[in-house]
Amino acid sequence: MIIDTHAHYDDSAFDADRDEVLKSLKASGVEYVVNVGASLKSCHTTAALAEKYPFVYAAVGVHPDEVGELSEEGMAWLREAAALPKTVAIGEIGLDYYWDKEERDVQKEWFARQMELAKEVGLPIIVHSREAAADTLDVMKAQNAREIPGVIHCFGYSTQMAKEYLDWGYFLGIGGVVTFKNARKIKEVVEYMPLSQLLLETDCPYLAPAPFRGKRNTSAYIPLIIEAIADIKKVSTKEVEQTAYENARRFYKKIRQAELRI
Ligand code: NI
Repeated sequence: MIIDTHAHYDDSAFDADRDEVLKSLKASGVEYVVNVGASLKSCHTTAALAEKYPFVYAAVGVHPDEVGELSEEGMAWLREAAALPKTVAIGEIGLDYYWDKEERDVQKEWFARQMELAKEVGLPIIVHSREAAADTLDVMKAQNAREIPGVIHCFGYSTQMAKEYLDWGYFLGIGGVVTFKNARKIKEVVEYMPLSQLLLETDCPYLAPAPFRGKRNTSAYIPLIIEAIADIKKVSTKEVEQTAYENARRFYKKIRQAELRI
């Protein structure tokens, strides 16, 4: 069984066939999808998807590119959305110095505030960090982030940086990039990290694995990511799938709580 721990099915890339795509996932072994908000608007659409589909869960948070829209009012709404029964994490939150859309101090401030929210509501965090390795670690250390369960989504840094987060007990989110021929750094990280701290993710509609690179991604392509990881770690695909499944259930505790209510 597969849990896609990071997807964006509310993206307009799925407007034409969202229902069809989501309903077809079960046939590819996908049991659950965690849809991740990136702006206040997409947190609303994420919550609506979770309400509509029993196998979709929600993460709510504002991405560093979008934090310019945050205010106390927005934070109050996020707090309410975090309390919904199918909201399983706060994210995606973090720093993005690649696009640098918002002032860096503003990004840091709202990253820290949203980590505080996660602590307050007792949810894990989904961290987005791009070209901001040192500052991400600094802001997280200042927030005692090791006390909150977390995943560094679409991990793109060095093995040395991976060690920092792995030592905290954090998960690393691995997706389509690991299948790319030239992705040497992430292959090294996967070789180094224990399977027990791996989460499988798509970030769909982005980052489709080879041979679909550049096309629209869906959770049905996760078996290609599993194959690449099994190859690097020299274990069976079954072991990768099963371990990642158990990890995702351990990380998103509210999925289990929701199952118990059904
Ligand atoms: Ni994402």
